[in-house]
Order: sequence, then structure tokens, then C-alpha cells
Amino acid sequence: MMKGIVLAGGTGSRLAPLTNITNKHLLPIYDRPMIYFALEALVRAGLEEIMVVTGGNHAGEFLRLLGSGGPVGLRSLQYAYQERPGGIAQALGLTEHFAAGDKVVVMLGDNIVEDDLASIVQRFERQERGARLLLKEIADPAHLRHLGVAVFDGDEPERLVDIEEKPAHPRSAYAVTGVYFYPAEVFDIVQTLKPSGRGELEITDVNKAFLERGQVEHDVLSGFWGDAGESIEAYYACTQYARARILASG
Ligand code: DAU
Repeated sequence: MMKGIVLAGGTGSRLAPLTNITNKHLLPIYDRPMIYFALEALVRAGLEEIMVVTGGNHAGEFLRLLGSGGPVGLRSLQYAYQERPGGIAQALGLTEHFAAGDKVVVMLGDNIVEDDLASIVQRFERQERGARLLLKEIADPAHLRHLGVAVFDGDEPERLVDIEEKPAHPRSAYAVTGVYFYPAEVFDIVQTLKPSGRGELEITDVNKAFLERGQVEHDVLSGFWGDAGESIEAYYACTQYARARILASG
């Protein structure tokens, strides 16, 4: 059975001072805490076994908020604690025992995705090997400079050949979103990583390892996508989107 993982550690320093007194993923996005969006997206996609990785001084608040998963429609919920913000890939590494050899869907706890992930989960279930990434077209290069950006060989957005993390000169208009589909070998790749210039184990290096093996497939999202932790402007764009969607759904 495929497992779901929501990563909610890190420092959230780009939203300071809001994050000086709480964890970024507990900040409100319209009428609910940010982390609900990632959890609800995975639950809607049919995942039943989910682990939240968090860290810092406010980890206990996640338990108070989410308990055994009932508030987001789960019968149980697992937790792991990341002692230092050692990067997204380091946080992922903490879930190896939980994954127990199954495929995983990893979602960053600050990502807000409108597309229904259920069909993509099904496609990944059938995928024989390697990873699957979700891309989103973003018109503004200034925005892309804060993200992982896809590099294509020829046919854009078909032939994904590389990913550049926060490039000064984005080589395409496609961001790599924070929703990743991995086979169990991802944990062997995490073991081989070296810290980047900012001292973190980078998820982009994990994805590049799969690219080197020629084992990456991708989908392009058509609906809204936002990284609510990217900047205060992105946070507000996510809040605006969530308000419209939640009001429309009554
Ligand atoms: O949102 C998409 C982007 O997320 C991608 O386009 C980038 O390629 C990817 O590197 C990542 O970039 P960010 O700069 O947004 O990552 P950030 O450091 O903000 O971390 C994102 C989430 O990952 C955060 O909300 C919680 C989790 N995290 C992060 C770190 C550094 C952890 O759980 N532990 C950590 O140590």
C-alpha cells in the first residue's frame, strides 16, 4: 500500500516574525491551518497511511491539532521528529521505517495544490520504476528564482533532463512543485547525499539522482499551485485561492 508523507519541519524564516512563535505549517490559510491542505490533498487521493515529520519547539502543537488524524479524515496518523532542520531530504530519510519498502507520496507541508492527485497516484502505482514529479508553469521568472526549475531538452515540457534549484536565470517556465512520488530506493539515495551550500540535504539532489538513471516521469498541474512558505506574497496568494475555493464549495 502506498504511504503518504507530509514534511513540516524547517524554520519558516521567510515568514518571520509570524514564525518566531509558532511553526509555519500551523499558520492560518483562510479558515484552517496550512498543513490541512497537504493532508487533505493526500486523503482525497486515497492515501490512508500518512506520517507527518515536524521539528523545532512547536512539534507538540501538531499532536494537539491533528491527534490521531480524525480532523483530516484519517483513522490514524504517524509522527516523526526532525531534531535539526537538515533539509527536505533529511526529513524524508526519517520516514524509512514507516515506508517499510512501499512506494511513497511526499508532500511539502507548505504546498497548496488544486488538482486532484488521485489519478496521478494511480499512474504512479502502475509506474514500473523511478520517481514521478509534478511541474507547474509559472510565468514570472522572479517567482521561479525561489523554486526548483525544470530544464528540458527540446520539447518543453516533455523531455525533462535536469533541475536547477533556485536558479538566477531560470531555463524554463516550469517549477518543480513540492509533491514527489518515490519508490523505496529513494531511501538509499538519501543515504548518499552530501549537504549543499546551505548545509541541507536537498530534495533536488534526490530528483537529479533519479534523472541520471533516466528514471523520472512527470505530470504538469493545470489548477492552482502555491508554496505558502515562499514569501509573504505567496502566503497571501494561497490564502486568496483557499478563500475562493472554500466559499465556492459551500
Ligand atoms: O515548494 C516547492 C519547492 O520546495 C521546490 O520548488 C524546491 O525545489 C524545493 O527545494 C523546495 O524549496 P523551498 O525553498 O520552498 O523549501 P523550504 O526550505 O521552504 O522547505 C519546504 C518544506 O519542507 C517546509 O515547508 C517543511 C519541509 N522541511 C524543510 C526543511 C529545510 C522540513 O521538513 N525539514 C527541513 O529541514
